[in-house]
Parts: sequence; C-alpha cells; structure tokens
Amino acid sequence: MEVLAIAGVRIEHIVKSYMLENKKVDVLCDLNFEIDSDGITVIIGKSGCGKTTFLRIVSGLEKPDSGQIIFEKKEKIGMVFQEGRLMPWLNCRKNISFGLNKKTFNKNYIDSLIDMVGLNGFDEAYPNQLSGGMQQRAALARALAYNPSLILMDEPFAALDFFTRDTMQNELLRIQAASQKGIIFVTHNIDEALLLGHKIVVFEGGEMKKQYDLSSYGYGRDLLSQSMLKIKKDILNTMKN
Ligand SMILES: Nc1ncnc2c1ncn2[C@@H]1O[C@H](COP(=O)(O)OP(=O)(O)OP(=O)(O)O)[C@@H](O)[C@H]1O
Ligand SMILES: [Mg+2]
Repeated sequence: MEVLAIAGVRIEHIVKSYMLENKKVDVLCDLNFEIDSDGITVIIGKSGCGKTTFLRIVSGLEKPDSGQIIFEKKEKIGMVFQEGRLMPWLNCRKNISFGLNKKTFNKNYIDSLIDMVGLNGFDEAYPNQLSGGMQQRAALARALAYNPSLILMDEPFAALDFFTRDTMQNELLRIQAASQKGIIFVTHNIDEALLLGHKIVVFEGGEMKKQYDLSSYGYGRDLLSQSMLKIKKDILNTMKN
C-alpha cells in the first residue's frame, strides 16, 4: 500500500531580494516545495544561498516580496539558531524555561529536558560556564520546552566537534521519533543531511533545485553504502552547478 506523506507546510512561489548599497540582491527566486508535517526536512545549500532567509520567512520574522507559505494546520514554531543565543545573565535552567507560561510551567518536564540533552548537574551554570556544545544543547532544550509543533533549526551543530555533533544528531533523531514533530533542519554538510533527512531539499541559485525522499532508508544509515554515496555525489553535482 502506498503511504502518502501529508504536507505540513507548502512553500509557494517565494521570492525575496534585499537592497545592498542601492543594488538589488536576489536571494530567493520562485521557491516551491512541500514540507511534511512530521519527519526531518533538511535544507542544504552553499553559504549565502538563502537558507537562513528562508527560515526567517517560515517563522514570520521576515516577509517575502511575493509568494506564500501555507500551513496545513496551526503551527507553534520553535527555533534553534546556529549559536546558542542564550541569555548570559540567566543560568541554564532559567534559559531553558525562559518565556514559559508560569501557570502551565511544569518543573518535571524541564527536568526531563535537562536530562535528555545531558546537562544534568549544570542546570545552575551560566552560559559562560558552559562549552559551546553544552550551550547548543541548552538551546535545543529551550526550543523543546516551548513544545512547538514545528522546529526550525539553522545549522545548529555546525560549531560542534565531531563527537558532540554525532551525539546531538542521534539525540535529535531520538527526539523526533519520540515526538513526531516536524523539523526543518538547515545545514551545508552533506553527510549530516544524509544522516538526518527524511527528505533533503537542495537550494541553489535561489531555487529548490532538487529533492530526495529518503523515508524508505530508515535511520542508522551507512554513509559508505552504494545508495548513500550515489545520493551524495548527486547532491554535490547539484550544488556545484
Ligand atoms: N538583512 C539583510 N540585508 C541585506 N542582505 C541580506 C540580509 N540578510 C541576508 N542578506 C543576503 O542574502 C543572502 C542570503 O543570506 P542567508 O543568510 O539567507 O544565507 P545562508 O544560505 O543562510 O548562508 P550561510 O550558510 O552562510 O548561513 C546573502 O547574500 C546575504 O548577504
Ligand atoms: Mg545561514
């Protein structure tokens, strides 16, 4: 039986340009694709191709010049940025629970998030007392604390060392499988895209150049397998053009 993925977000004819010193810079030119309501949709593209701009448009922080983003259902959007963006004057626990409604605040839930991202024993520490990887994990916990239905992640693991990155990627897969949340994950790392993507969307020249459905591959993927190497080569070629 064929199972059709349910589109969660439709990106329709998104166009965005900026003015830089009186010159128009076209960033997104007629972007069209769909994001499934669950699973990890990876956006991959070279530096400057408009990935962050795209996330800012999806989150509503920025308006497109034309086109529209259609949400199939009401989404509560959470965002994880490339840098932790924690508040330096608040400790780890207060950063994670910052902005939560005091009435519905659930200490056990915050404890479980701290546990989940491996920050046990550091809940009283301030951001400058945490390593970059730990700050990033606190940022992920903060996004989850808000209980969003759609999480936008902008190169969240780019600054991490190989081992921390590997742990975080597996953690993300575990969290996604447990919560069935929709995640839009931006990266410029093809291996990361292949490890995480339920779908991979390649941005190039302001357009959605190509997309790959990896949902049949499951997780715990062997990046050296023939099928993964083939997709990797194809993505490289698409990004080069
Ligand atoms: N507020 C702004 N004003 C003017 N130009 C901007 C603005 N924001 C982004 N740009 C331009 O838009 C283009 C795309 O930027 P964007 O940050 O979306 O790229 P990116 O794909 O996220 O790159 P990276 O991988 O390096 O983060 C760049 O040329 C950038 O200079
Ligand atoms: Mg960016």
